[in-house]
Amino acid sequence: MKKLEWQDDLSVGIELIDGQHKQWIEHFNRAAEAVAAHQGAMHITKTLGFLVEYTEAHFSTEERHMAASHYAGVDEHKAKHDELKAIMADLVQDFEEEGVNHKLANAVDAFLGNWLVKHIQDVDMKFGAFVKTEGILLSDDT
Ligand SMILES: [Fe+2]
Ligand SMILES: [Fe+2]
Repeated sequence: MKKLEWQDDLSVGIELIDGQHKQWIEHFNRAAEAVAAHQGAMHITKTLGFLVEYTEAHFSTEERHMAASHYAGVDEHKAKHDELKAIMADLVQDFEEEGVNHKLANAVDAFLGNWLVKHIQDVDMKFGAFVKTEGILLSDDT
C-alpha cells in the first residue's frame, strides 16, 4: 500500500486549508491501511466513516470560504467535491455489500489517493492563488 505523505509542494499557501489537508491525508492513510490490512469490518467501517466525515467537513470549509470571498470558480470547484463525495459513497456501499476485496483495496489506494492529491494540486491550488492575489485573510470562523 502506498502511503500518502504531506509534502511542501502540496501547500496551497493558506494555513487553515493546508492544516486540514494534512489531517485529510492522515484520515485517508488510516482508512487505506485498514482496508489493505483487512483489519476487520468494524475497524474499516470506522476509518472509512471518519474519512467521509472529515472530507465533508473540509469541503464545506472550502466552499464557505470560496463563497465568502466571491471566488468565480466556486461552482466548478464544488462540482469536483460532489464528484468525490459520490465516489466515496460508492466505495462505502461496495464495502458494506461485498466486504474487502481486491477491487475495493485498489479503488481506495490508487483511485481515491490519486484523486485527493490531484485535487489539492490542481483545484485547491487555484483557490490558494486567488486568495493570495486578492490578499484575502482566511480564518476559521468565517
Ligand atoms: Fe477542494
Ligand atoms: Fe481541499
